[in-house]
Amino acid sequence: MKTILTTSPDEAARFIKRGGIVAFPTETVYGLGANVFDENAIAKIYAAKMRPVDNPLIAHVGKIEDVNILAKEITETARKFIAAFFPAPLTIVLPKAEAISLIATANLETVGVRMPRNETALEFLKACGAPVVAPSANLSGRPSPTTWQAVYEDLNGRIDCILQSETSAEIGLESTVVDCTGDFPLVLRSGAVTLEQLQKIVPETRIYKLKKDEKPRSPGLKHRHYSPRARVVLLDSRFEIQHSGFESPNSKAFIGLIELRENFDLVKICASVENYAHSVFDFFRQCDRKNIGTIYCQTIEEKGIGLALMDRLKRASEN
Ligand code: TXA
Ligand code: MG
Repeated sequence: MKTILTTSPDEAARFIKRGGIVAFPTETVYGLGANVFDENAIAKIYAAKMRPVDNPLIAHVGKIEDVNILAKEITETARKFIAAFFPAPLTIVLPKAEAISLIATANLETVGVRMPRNETALEFLKACGAPVVAPSANLSGRPSPTTWQAVYEDLNGRIDCILQSETSAEIGLESTVVDCTGDFPLVLRSGAVTLEQLQKIVPETRIYKLKKDEKPRSPGLKHRHYSPRARVVLLDSRFEIQHSGFESPNSKAFIGLIELRENFDLVKICASVENYAHSVFDFFRQCDRKNIGTIYCQTIEEKGIGLALMDRLKRASEN
């Protein structure tokens, strides 16, 4: 398959209307989209990404009213979050409407709904004429793509089109996912809309913790994620490596907020936690291109977007 590159949201949307799959920029990471009502196209997403079929997709809308197409019911807490945040790096899990295929939701009776706040994404979604289901536009298990070049690296020849943005994704980490189907909202995945911000709107909001032997509410939580090929090692605030001390791997890299005296082959010093979040997936990919053996990542305080960043770093270091 030839993958067409374009900067035109209308041209990209035409592929969706013809049953194709299209990567598009958002403020979090690039998504790989298909028409929510086209089961064939949805199946192509799973194949192109090599994504496990038990991992549900988020449905994206270009206007708030379209949430009604996707959800059977908009619960009280969801209504509050939508009013407070949409468009936002926030996905709300709701009971799904009858018309939404179980292929999109991986057999769940719920659907994740998000309205991105990126202008190009909104233009594209409106031009598609229907909600668009989209996981992150990476090969399954790889770091999420924050540039069109990263999408190209993973999916060239496997998808119909890439809608290009000149700039890299503003936030760089995937959206916050909050389940609003129960008595109180549960954060299934942390992101740029923070727990603290959600609690200002609904104070009962809490972080979901998987209990032993429980079936995870968010199937994505159990899958391998965010992994560069390099080994990822976390450095605590005193820059002591959690286990064995600095070994001397063939080549090593560092990303964090403070410069170290150690010699690295590749270094990224970030001006803020936000900038660290924005840069980390792209840095992982740069390291892989340079065949870096070990990537050392500075740990940070788990509050605000630091919670989301630490979540991704921990997962990357587990493999
Ligand atoms: O920022 C984002 O959310 C990006 C952009 C493209 O919008 N998308 C993204 O999609 O990260 P993906 O598929 O890589 O991650 C979706 C996460 C998975 O962990 C999945 O399990 C969870 O959301 N999810 C989706 N629908 C769900 C549902 N109905 N119930 C529980 N979790 C759900
Ligand atoms: Mg993903």
